[in-house]
Amino acid sequence: MYMNRFNILEEELSRPSVFKDESKLSIDYLPSKLLFRDVELRFMARHFLGMLNKTSPKTSNLLIVGGVGIGKTSLAKSFGNMLVESAKKRQLPVKYIHINCRTNNSSYLIFQSIAQELSHHVPARGYSTEEIISVINDLLKLNNYRIFLVLDEFDFIAMKSGTEIIYALTRMNDINKNQDTSSQVSLVLIARSSSFLKRLDESTASSFGHSILRLRKYNQSQLAEIIRQRVELSFKEGAVTDEAIWLAADIASELGDARHALELIWYAGKYADEEQSPFVFPDHVRQAKSSIHPVVRRETIYSLSLHKLMLLLGIVRRFKHSKMAYIKTSEAIEEYRMACEEFNLEARKHTQLWQYLKELAMFDLIQIKPSGKGQRGKTTLISLPDVSTRQLEKELLMLIQTTPK
Ligand SMILES: Nc1ncnc2c1ncn2[C@@H]1O[C@H](COP(=O)(O)OP(=O)(O)OP(=O)(O)O)[C@@H](O)[C@H]1O
Ligand SMILES: [Mg+2]
Repeated sequence: MYMNRFNILEEELSRPSVFKDESKLSIDYLPSKLLFRDVELRFMARHFLGMLNKTSPKTSNLLIVGGVGIGKTSLAKSFGNMLVESAKKRQLPVKYIHINCRTNNSSYLIFQSIAQELSHHVPARGYSTEEIISVINDLLKLNNYRIFLVLDEFDFIAMKSGTEIIYALTRMNDINKNQDTSSQVSLVLIARSSSFLKRLDESTASSFGHSILRLRKYNQSQLAEIIRQRVELSFKEGAVTDEAIWLAADIASELGDARHALELIWYAGKYADEEQSPFVFPDHVRQAKSSIHPVVRRETIYSLSLHKLMLLLGIVRRFKHSKMAYIKTSEAIEEYRMACEEFNLEARKHTQLWQYLKELAMFDLIQIKPSGKGQRGKTTLISLPDVSTRQLEKELLMLIQTTPK
């Protein structure tokens, strides 16, 4: 058969690479052994031991708090898997449900996800929140389920309807207690800060207040170990130099952010491939560092709706031309309106934009604060985390062009 000598696809396929399995670098990948978290896992084991009581199971609640990329999700998942394994051995009906509140950002969506995890027959729409809760109660009663429910990235809903959902879940246990069933819900909330506890009434808050697991930052040598564990799974043997690992660990140790450490080494690998270098050197890590930032997460930007993207674009553009550390809300909005004109979009109203600003701040994409003394009149000032505005603008433009209007 005639083979096109200039088949570019073939050429790309045969191009040498430092990777052997990139999927192992994905943030959702759960390593089989979580490093440096034995104390925390043991704490959780003791805390939730009662769930495995044969006849009279006990519920517990726990709040896991810690900075970005510090291993909160991985810890909950590792423990959830252990719990399910032990329950299976003892033939106990334990269910582990892990819900992300960034993507399921209302009580309704959360209850809907719980119901669907419990039964495949629950339709995706058509019920009210009350109806879904009663469906869940029926399913619990019927199967005597002991639920280990993790609400991850709880910050994203805490301000909006978070307290409501905690009450609804606590009420669920009260109802089941009065009925002849041993089914119940143990709740794990994962958040970056515990400030929302203040909004709960005393008795509910205290059911978490005494059980907060605060995760410590990883130091440089721990991060290097975490990187090494993943490098073994995802890179060809010997492809990543020790110096590169050490540099990535050093950069990420400022925040103790394991995710940032892994992202750095992944991108460094990409740069090495681009240069057709069979090794990943520190300089590839430096290149990676300038193209990613620990706080501005890609998936957060990807989850924004069109006008929030546009507003962020306005802010980024204003900063690009300004040497100031802060800009005023009015300046951001002016720039947003110009961007809307450019893209033929009808600009949103002021009150709506104000809401968007608060949401962008909640996602850590911007910071807002009231203007202090010395400024005339009261306004709100906006600042950007330490990101490359050029890079961010490029990314936003790409997203805006592909987001449906
Ligand atoms: N102790 C550890 N051992 C091995 N890998 C780890 C450890 N801690 C974190 N990681 C890895 O680091 C990455 C980030 O961890 P994870 O997603 O659990 O952090 P997080 O605290 O939930 O982050 P976020 O605040 O962004 O939700 C994951 O790929 C995870 O596998
Ligand atoms: Mg997480």
